[in-house]
Amino acid sequence: MKYQVFISRRIPSAAVDLLRENCDLDMWQEELPPSRDIFLEKVRGKQGLLTMLSDRIDRGLLTAAGRQLKVVANYAVGYDNIDLAAAREMGVAVGNTPGVLTETTADLAWALLMAVNRRIVEGDRYVREDCWKTWGPELLRGYEMAGKTIGIIGFGRIGKAVARRAAGFGMRTVFYSPSETSEEFPEWNALKVDLDTCLATADFLSLHCPLNEQTRSMVNAEALARMKPTAILVNTARGAVVDSRALYQALKSGALAGAGLDVTDPEPIPLDDPLLELPNVIITPHIGSATYETRAKMAEMAALNILHGLRGESLPYPVLQP
Ligand code: NAP
Ligand code: GLV
Ligand code: GLV
Repeated sequence: MKYQVFISRRIPSAAVDLLRENCDLDMWQEELPPSRDIFLEKVRGKQGLLTMLSDRIDRGLLTAAGRQLKVVANYAVGYDNIDLAAAREMGVAVGNTPGVLTETTADLAWALLMAVNRRIVEGDRYVREDCWKTWGPELLRGYEMAGKTIGIIGFGRIGKAVARRAAGFGMRTVFYSPSETSEEFPEWNALKVDLDTCLATADFLSLHCPLNEQTRSMVNAEALARMKPTAILVNTARGAVVDSRALYQALKSGALAGAGLDVTDPEPIPLDDPLLELPNVIITPHIGSATYETRAKMAEMAALNILHGLRGESLPYPVLQP
């Protein structure tokens, strides 16, 4: 008897091949995800679920799947979409895909930082709208990066990869990450500080913490008020780490110079969101890990998590092991 597995979107084929041998696969084929009702139907009777960060894996869904469910493998490193307490109670293993997306996501954070600061999207629009009439001494200026300070909230895998990039650009790093035991990383000119210092010293602030009860709305009006008016915020973590109304106010009033967001709250961002009216904001559709290589590796890791979980073995990339 093969294991019954639901995959909530199409994933790279090598991972599908890996699973096919031992599993009956039900893979959702459409571009848009299944509705909640269909999702609840699809998971019924399955032993493994390979899920996306955009799927809400809550108690109701785990219950709808049934007691035979053994493993949920999230196709992401973040797992804030999964109710871990419910999974623990139900004896369901949960896995994620850490590490393989670290450089890819750090690249995107860096790309957003550079694009906002050097006004790449505005410049492109300026050219296409036939505004480019001459070279201009004051045209589309940003801020120098060499010699400046980047603040990083969440100094884990991706946060450190961003600090390494910053060092290459001649910058220094201050980071806020309570459980980090090293006070400094001299090779990257990086220093541990408290949150207020991180906010106040940063010329550029990049978020790399997970979304949890401590980090939800961490970058709120009060935090933004501590930042330099010339600072730029980059968020490739999770949208809900930032209070988006407060961010809009800060950007609109000139209390903050710009923002690059790969994640929003909610996702997708509604087209009438006022943030989309601001020229100093760049928004990408949650593409931090979107390279061919990384997405293939993530799929393989998720598939391995499924296979091990189905056999009742320890997951190779566990978040929660019952
Ligand atoms: P990671 O290695 O676990 O790093 C996260 C760091 O944040 C850890 O050092 C963690 O400390 C720290 N942290 C936890 N709570 C914090 C708090 N309250 N304040 C400050 N720091 C805190 O994870 P990662 O692989 O770097 O990924 C980080 C996050 O990026 C993921 O959770 C995900 O949400 C997001 N992400 C987004 C994309 C995208 O496509 N945009 C791609 C990949 C990842 P502890 O280890 O002690 O908890
Ligand atoms: C992407 O956001 C991830 O958490 O992998
Ligand atoms: C700019 O293009 C310069 O030559 O300074």
